[in-house]
Amino acid sequence: MSDIQEKVKELMGYREQARLGGGQKRIDSQHKKGKKTARERIKLLLDEGSFEEFDMFVKHRCNNFGLEEETYFGDGVVTGYGTINGRQVYVFSQDFTVFGGSLSETFAAKICKVMDMAMKNGAPVIGINDSGGARIQEGVNSLSGYTEIFQRNILASGVIPQISAIFGPCAGGAVYSPALTDFILMSKGSSYMFVTGPKVVKTVTGEDVTQEQLGGASIHAAKSGVAHFVSETEEEGIEMLRKLLSFLPSNNMEDAPVAACTDAIDRMEDVLNDIIPDNPNKPYNVLDVIHAVVDGGDFLESQAKFAPNIVTGFARFGGQSVGIIANQPKFLAGVLDINASRKAARFVRFCDAFNIPIVTFVDVPGFLPGTAQEYGGIIIHGAKLLFAYGEATVPKVTVILRKAYGGAYCVMSSKHLRGDINYAWPTAEIAVMGPKGATEVLSSKEIAAIEDEQKKAEFIAQKEEEYRDKFANPYVAARFGYIDDIIEPRNTRFRIARALQSLANKRLANPPKKHSNIPL
Ligand code: HXC
Repeated sequence: MSDIQEKVKELMGYREQARLGGGQKRIDSQHKKGKKTARERIKLLLDEGSFEEFDMFVKHRCNNFGLEEETYFGDGVVTGYGTINGRQVYVFSQDFTVFGGSLSETFAAKICKVMDMAMKNGAPVIGINDSGGARIQEGVNSLSGYTEIFQRNILASGVIPQISAIFGPCAGGAVYSPALTDFILMSKGSSYMFVTGPKVVKTVTGEDVTQEQLGGASIHAAKSGVAHFVSETEEEGIEMLRKLLSFLPSNNMEDAPVAACTDAIDRMEDVLNDIIPDNPNKPYNVLDVIHAVVDGGDFLESQAKFAPNIVTGFARFGGQSVGIIANQPKFLAGVLDINASRKAARFVRFCDAFNIPIVTFVDVPGFLPGTAQEYGGIIIHGAKLLFAYGEATVPKVTVILRKAYGGAYCVMSSKHLRGDINYAWPTAEIAVMGPKGATEVLSSKEIAAIEDEQKKAEFIAQKEEEYRDKFANPYVAARFGYIDDIIEPRNTRFRIARALQSLANKRLANPPKKHSNIPL
């Protein structure tokens, strides 16, 4: 064998060793837990054969606790770049088989390198998390490593899409890198996220709680809202990541890619003419409206289980990506509360940062009253959504389906917050408040003066009817130009698609400033 052949053989041997991470035994143990390895995940995520790895031969530099005796090629994280549907992305995938995927100084430096490359080249970063947190033996070097990553997450925010998948433990300060990214996906059963684990919780608060109860995927999907997407399996999760990316531009200087569209933009949907129930207090499912109007009925919902009284997600009109925000009358009558405001505000800001037009469907009775909401700061949280819509400069198309009452009318991408094209269905009711509340305020003295209960009810019904006739329609708002047109529901897809086409070259900038001071 020639010298060079020897050297190539040696290289192949080292590569083989690196690909085994912490060794076959630990790989088997990972598989036994129903989890894939760091490399298997990358293989599934990226287009076949597109992965180019960096830093395969990096090893840790720590000599504490006998660690100098134990080193592995790659040091517990696989990093590099590749393509998803032909578009470049940077990835890191934590390898639980090496010191439990715990983060060392060199491990962090590898992640920082791909983040820096992603920023230079305007490509998204996808991070797969499966780690026991800070590598205990490395002490403060591990903490500094985390913080270097956090700093990069912060600077990359709004410049390149950052997406986190959690496929194992993610605990302690380690949760804050995913929290700083745009979207978090968790797989059911094998992933959990918490700032302090069950043992510390028990010591400090006395609560008995399992890992799953404290920070499993279902909890973060429905209760905390930390997880935007939840998958049954890792494979499904990876498919979701690929799909999510298809809606997004690679960076804030680009538009999202236009997908091939076989769905006619002038498709009529007759069912929409009958979707609003005659009784204004009866719910319907706004998802039926969304599915009926977007390309191919394809809608990727984000935070589906959290604050379900507002719907957020991605879809397309004529192949063009849009972010959709819609009040959901099926839950809490579509009211705006603290969680709904926070959820929608963050989504609006993501879309605005990444040049994704916003389509808003409005059916909202107002803000949720009560001490729980007031004490929880609905004033500040509601202001987030108001601020986000008002600050957004991307094309904004709004359709009022039914109720648009009070402050919620103002907030939900109204004309007054620089809504570009605002439509209403003939079923729209636009007013300061609903007929019931208005009658109670305007006619309280007359109502109190009527003793007979039957007569009182008749009087209230008559006043409510009068109010409804006057205000609970779209024509008053249309008369003032606050609504650009009243459209036939079945024609909604076409009207939105045309509106978006007309706004394709929209240019609007906010006054120069260091940054705004959104109410946090
Ligand atoms: C070094 C670690 C480690 C860590 C796990 N390992 N966590 N090594 N530092 N943080 C090693 C184990 O020694 C073991 O090595 C291997 O990884 C697998 O771990 P197991 O415990 O056998 O696995 P499992 O039973 O699945 O339990 C996983 C676990 C547990 C729940 C994550 O390992 C654990 O509780 N780890 C410690 C978590 C923690 O407290 N981290 C620090 C959080 S504070 P061998 O050789 O046997 O394979 C933090 C601060 C960050 O992260 C601050 C940023 C601002």
